Amino acid sequence: MCGIVGYLGFSDSKKIILNGLKELEYRGYDSAGITILQDGKFHIFKSVGKLNNLIEKSRSLEINGFSVGIGHTRWATHGKPTEDNAHPHSGEFTHIVHNGIIENYGDLKTDLLYKGYKFSSQTDTEVIVHLFEEILDKHQFNDSDNGSFLAFRDTIGLLHGAYALLLIKRDEPERIYFAKEGSPLIIGTNFETGEQIFASSDSPLIGLVDSVIYLKDGEYGYVEQGLIKILNMSGVVIKPEYKTLPQNKELAQKSGFRYFMEKEIYEQSQVVSDTMLGRIGDKNITFDEISPDIFNGINEIKLCACGTSYHTALASSYLFERIARVRVSVEFGSEFRYKDPILHNDTLFVVISQSGETADTLASLKLAVSAGLKTLAICNVDNSSIVRTADYTILTRAGIEKGVASTKAFATQMVVLYMFSIYLAQIRNIISYSGVEEHLQILREIPNAMTINDRVHEKIKRLSKRYLHGHGFFFIGRDIFYPLALEGALKLKEISYLHSEGYPAGEMKHGPIALADPELFTIALLPKNMLYDKTKSNIEELGARDSTICVISSESVELADDFIEISAHHHYMLEFFEMTTVLQLLAMEIAIRLKNDVDMPRNLAKSVTVE
Ligand code: G6P
Repeated sequence: MCGIVGYLGFSDSKKIILNGLKELEYRGYDSAGITILQDGKFHIFKSVGKLNNLIEKSRSLEINGFSVGIGHTRWATHGKPTEDNAHPHSGEFTHIVHNGIIENYGDLKTDLLYKGYKFSSQTDTEVIVHLFEEILDKHQFNDSDNGSFLAFRDTIGLLHGAYALLLIKRDEPERIYFAKEGSPLIIGTNFETGEQIFASSDSPLIGLVDSVIYLKDGEYGYVEQGLIKILNMSGVVIKPEYKTLPQNKELAQKSGFRYFMEKEIYEQSQVVSDTMLGRIGDKNITFDEISPDIFNGINEIKLCACGTSYHTALASSYLFERIARVRVSVEFGSEFRYKDPILHNDTLFVVISQSGETADTLASLKLAVSAGLKTLAICNVDNSSIVRTADYTILTRAGIEKGVASTKAFATQMVVLYMFSIYLAQIRNIISYSGVEEHLQILREIPNAMTINDRVHEKIKRLSKRYLHGHGFFFIGRDIFYPLALEGALKLKEISYLHSEGYPAGEMKHGPIALADPELFTIALLPKNMLYDKTKSNIEELGARDSTICVISSESVELADDFIEISAHHHYMLEFFEMTTVLQLLAMEIAIRLKNDVDMPRNLAKSVTVE
């Protein structure tokens, strides 16, 4: 993960880079750093922890006139989160920032150490800067060759792994070199001023530029004032392909909520509605971005994702079987990519990802592409690596999600997957008109089911006090409420750091019930419209063994210690969506009571672009 920003022009480079890093802080916040090159001199600032430390530290630096600068916010992979390991990394006359992992850095480092280069960090990144200087020195490129550029090209040619990197050099104070392989990198250009701005995602560029270039893997080159040179790995010069940048920054602000996570929970009603817009008609589901022949020759769906997106994959597998009567399997990206899977071209390979950059999901998708499978991405970020790799894409319309713990992305993914299961049932002719109509009606009611009820939120606030201490949580549910239980448990552990596990309610008696005692908290999902009596019996088994139980349902259960009442719904999917909000709020209120940083939980990052 990590986020990088670069700037070249006459505005205040420090301010632009720091603001940009603030937008990217969700990608990692173990340390941050900037290097500004002004009047032939490098100004370097690094600090451990959140960006505010860096802002304080670099306060004295004033920018006047033309400057170039690069900045980085880090999620540690190689080397602890220390100042030495913070980017930018420096050679004798060069500085670089890097997002990704250099897999052959060990060999490169051994060679460079042997040649006498001194390393001041434990990072994989530092090899790049010394390698560049070594190549430049060794090859003695003649002046007309544009030596730095050739050395840069040869340097990246020796790197294995993933990188988005920016390099600046003392004696070329008007140029930034860049390269992209595997990690995202965008160039924004202000055509009036000639300024060039780099970032790992759109958000730092909003308000500064209108047009951007989404670099592709294997592309590299350099920018100067008003000039961009991009080449591919074959050395062919590429014509820049500009895209218009959406300018909606307001969505990325907190608008009065305590945390981005809270704002995003409350936004769900709106974004699920946006996600359905133009896709649910009076009589059917349509997706303009795909055509019904997507399912020609297909007999099976394989769903693949990580984290919260994996939970929507698992939950939707119940819908694909039940509604579309399609064989379905579900895979973790990190497992799938190395299991030497048996793949047949009668399988539609569906990846689900909020960011579109998750390394394991992307690698699994590439594996499916190379095996000749048809692929579909369900993703929240247009132009992301996953979107660009898949044959088809259905975008969720959650907007920018800032809370590291995913909420509205989950809800919008679930809505898309639910709609897609109905769509498949339609094109396979296995659903009646009235069956489709019934689902369309349920879909229309989801925004209402996801509107937060003040009474419920207040109750959760009060209840959260009871659940701060104990030796763990079980979240239980049956059928599609089992993956929802997994998601509830994940939300809680992500931001409260309390131990929590999701379990199928019917499986508790096969082992986990041995843990039951009053210090074991059970959060039970009890939908009225799905296996109500069966789930109720499972809850009662736990109650009889003194577990402290909180039931989420429209009806209370005698043995429960606490009860969070949801509305009475006529279909289990509406209960599913309302319970989603309850679980998210419960995790958030517990984390707030524990005084944790809800939006930036320890050890986690929003976008995991490394293995
Ligand atoms: C990280 C995030 C999770 C997210 C997972 C998958 O671990 O912290 O919230 O669910 O990555 O991300 P994706 O962007 O592929 O959905």
